[in-house]
Amino acid sequence: MSEPPTPPPPGGPPDGADPGPPPEPAPEPAPGTPGGTPERHSGGGPDALPAVRAVGLGKTYRLGEVAIPALHDVSLDVERGTFVAVMGPSGSGKSTLLHLLGLLDTPDAGTVHLDGRPTDDLDDDTATRMRRDDVGFVFQTFELLPNLSARENVLLPAEVAGRRREGEARLRDLAGDLGITDRLDHRPEQLSGGQRQRVAIARALVNDPVVVLADEPTGNLDSATGHEVLDLLRRGVDARGWTVAMVTHDPNAALRADRIVFLRDGRVAGEVAAADPDARQRIATFAGV
Ligand SMILES: Nc1ncnc2c1ncn2[C@@H]1O[C@H](COP(=O)(O)OP(=O)(O)O)[C@@H](O)[C@H]1O
Ligand SMILES: [Mg+2]
Repeated sequence: MSEPPTPPPPGGPPDGADPGPPPEPAPEPAPGTPGGTPERHSGGGPDALPAVRAVGLGKTYRLGEVAIPALHDVSLDVERGTFVAVMGPSGSGKSTLLHLLGLLDTPDAGTVHLDGRPTDDLDDDTATRMRRDDVGFVFQTFELLPNLSARENVLLPAEVAGRRREGEARLRDLAGDLGITDRLDHRPEQLSGGQRQRVAIARALVNDPVVVLADEPTGNLDSATGHEVLDLLRRGVDARGWTVAMVTHDPNAALRADRIVFLRDGRVAGEVAAADPDARQRIATFAGV
């Protein structure tokens, strides 16, 4: 299945260069419009359910006799085409939350709805398919396969899904958007950290997921390179309609999102819109600064 009409890519900037102005947002094809190619997943629309909805999530890890509470009654909507940051102290449950949202683990209580459907009673095949097709993960440590080229890394999830041809078409667009077109034949060790993370972002998006879940994606990058990666995520949300939930410790990174959700001791402790004039202060207060 092909993409809806998209504006021309912004052109791959050389690494380290200003990635330039964002492309114009892609026109939203009206449902049922001839020529408006439907997305593989259920897509947007005024009545669309959030890309991800968490309702009352609870999670306690058990190590033998020891119970380690991680999340309590966490509810969160990630609307389609938006960028949500999750902040919280170490151990507050941020990674656990991303794992539950991405169906990498199952909650003890509550439900994750992905693309408008509850996921608590999925059979194994459906759960595997949704994990593979509907969620893209981006990790602090990139997690690229060292013996594969950037291109092969990006295409792997498409191949596993039996959609290599669609993957190749998406790879062309993503590589242009992410400025890695001229790096696709390199292996990870031949790439800078920023380039590796761009490749990892392309991999996360190759199957056109409902949501990208990014766990401290700039945590291993210097601040200038981290800013470039955030610019690319922000631009993907604005121009391509990506949906991103990102864990971060960095207030400047969080402020690139639309909303910032605070976790403390496994509970949602508040949230603020990034555009709120008090957002920076709220983050500082939350962090105890
Ligand atoms: N696989 C696991 N087994 C046992 N305890 C875990 C596991 N993963 C996380 N925890 C515990 O759950 C709590 C939340 O961890 P985590 O979600 O990783 O927090 P954060 O990402 O905010 O640092 C912590 O107390 C952590 O030690
Ligand atoms: Mg974590």
